[in-house]
Amino acid sequence: MITFNMERESKHTFERLFPRVERELGNFISADPQGWREFTDRLQKYFPSFFHLYLGLYGARYDFFFHLEDLLLSLARSWFARAADLRQLDKAREQNPLWFQSNQMLGGVCYVDLFAGDLEGVKSKIPYFKELGLTYLHLMPLFKAPEGENDGGYAVSSYREVHPPLGTMEQLASLAREFRKAGISLVVDLVFNHTSDEHLWAERAKAGDEEYADFYRIFPSRELPDAYERNLREIFPDEHPGAFTFFANLFKDGGWVWTTFHSYQWDLNYSNPAVFNRMAEEMLFLANQGVEVIRLDAVAFIWKEMGTNCENLPGAHQLIQAFNAVARIASPGLLFKSEAIVHPDDVAKYISPVECQLSYNPLLMALLWNSLATRKVRLLSQALATRFKIHPEAAWVNYVRVHDDIGWTFSDEDAVMLGVNGYDHRRFLNEFYRGRFEGSFARGLPFQENPKTGDCRISGTCASLAGLEKAIKEEGPNEVEFAIRRILLIHGVILTAGGIPLIYLGDEIGTLNDYTYRDDPAHERDSRWVHRPRADWEKYAKRHEPASIEGRVYQGLKTLIELRKQLEAFAGGELEIIPTENDHVLGFLRSHAGHRAIIFANFSEKPQSVSARIVEQFSVHSKKQLYGGSVNSPQGDIQIDPLGFLIFA
Ligand code: GLC
Ligand code: GLC
Repeated sequence: MITFNMERESKHTFERLFPRVERELGNFISADPQGWREFTDRLQKYFPSFFHLYLGLYGARYDFFFHLEDLLLSLARSWFARAADLRQLDKAREQNPLWFQSNQMLGGVCYVDLFAGDLEGVKSKIPYFKELGLTYLHLMPLFKAPEGENDGGYAVSSYREVHPPLGTMEQLASLAREFRKAGISLVVDLVFNHTSDEHLWAERAKAGDEEYADFYRIFPSRELPDAYERNLREIFPDEHPGAFTFFANLFKDGGWVWTTFHSYQWDLNYSNPAVFNRMAEEMLFLANQGVEVIRLDAVAFIWKEMGTNCENLPGAHQLIQAFNAVARIASPGLLFKSEAIVHPDDVAKYISPVECQLSYNPLLMALLWNSLATRKVRLLSQALATRFKIHPEAAWVNYVRVHDDIGWTFSDEDAVMLGVNGYDHRRFLNEFYRGRFEGSFARGLPFQENPKTGDCRISGTCASLAGLEKAIKEEGPNEVEFAIRRILLIHGVILTAGGIPLIYLGDEIGTLNDYTYRDDPAHERDSRWVHRPRADWEKYAKRHEPASIEGRVYQGLKTLIELRKQLEAFAGGELEIIPTENDHVLGFLRSHAGHRAIIFANFSEKPQSVSARIVEQFSVHSKKQLYGGSVNSPQGDIQIDPLGFLIFA
């Protein structure tokens, strides 16, 4: 029997291909011998793991070698195009690979047009970003996209062009530099599951070019789509049933295109190595503009196999790991952030230094909202105790709101252990956040309600979901105070829990829902626009007035941010749950490099206490209380204010 020796074959392949690349790029090499040496070192280091992955994905193709050589040439060309300051940054990051775990890190996210008009406008806001303390800013998709409906830019027509009203690629590169000078890392999306149907590749496919038709998953009849759909979930059922869209102008009699999301978002076909190679080039192109973190959009969906639900397949992981290896070779400073809004078991699988160093934490997000609704912390404590720990060289991105809806992606198996039925509980949460449940403070809207499954997700801004809208419009100062405390409470958790806290800009001044999206034909069908308002700079100006609502939210948050940055205990990801023996109070201990901090968070509108025994066991009194309202009883209990958040360190 002949066994395949991976190490030997990898070496052999390298020795065959390397001289060909060297020959082809002779001119670049003689112009930049030092750069070539650096590239060669990294290529040699990462080639074996890359080869293994690429072979796993594409080894069965008769033209495997052609694609591999093509890719190596792309990597080298991209490296030669990489600016000196970025190569410097690469080195700095390699020397300090865990830089993103620092307690100095603070993330923000905004739309270029809605926040500041265009890229120049964003540049002019740098002083504001510094004031807030941001070190990481995710600019929502800013690439060329179809006019009108484009899913907030998630339908990309060119990865190398900025959407014309927002500016140019040169401006983006210059913005990245200005950010870096201000200590801010630029984050953008790599929308790599699909392109818009106006991308050149899609246009060529439409024109009958088979090479490009093979970039997508297009079928002449319903036979295969039907077979796939037997196992698929519907993602945007409001827009089209199933996962495919019929286009009459394809082939002779029309064709069915795989469109997981909207009909104008065509899923790429990664079983074709040309797609991998071209997207790797697009990724490196963005890295060379100075992008430091790539948000990998919709990771769960990128690999498809008949007979499966085509989500979170092993191939998806291999693919991302292969992209990661590409980055290590040709843009080593680049980090990946995974956007997997799926079952927590699946979310966790994307997180590792060889796959995505960063990941959204949708479970923490959903359970913070769950705790506000139920006023109980059991699911949240359980999740933090059992699911928060990840690879020590990775980090969560913790958030309470982003541009998307809230999906209740907790684990049903976990919920059952606490006597909670997942299906019923999700129904309750949806009713609660739509403001239809008695005692609800929330003003949310349903998103993608699926009558077939009863499934639904929730749209709304942080403030409106936390009760501020209802309190201002219908209630009064007491409820306004509660709403502000809820906002600070859940932000308090993401600022201290371990990982990079991410603020959806606008939330820091308590921005309410904006219902005007209903008048815009490009947005009216998508309730997520209710929480994507244009920044109101008159309201922002009030952030310095301590008595205004904007000021109360902003300054409360600023105090928490400053504490985060002062206390080294908030670096890293070590978290231990404190069993507070009070269902309304979350407690946890953070430690890092010998520093410790203790957090208590009361999710109810009544004062709650933590017993003297627990206080003693965790020696809370040996620490200083640095934040929050509480009273110490003579018996040694700590009484926490309604919706209070306490930090001891
Ligand atoms: C991601 C984005 C979402 C978009 C989808 C399709 O989930 O966050 O806004 O609709 O991908 O690109
Ligand atoms: C993607 C995201 C999911 C989101 C949806 C639309 O599926 O993974 O979280 O709900 O896009 O926003």
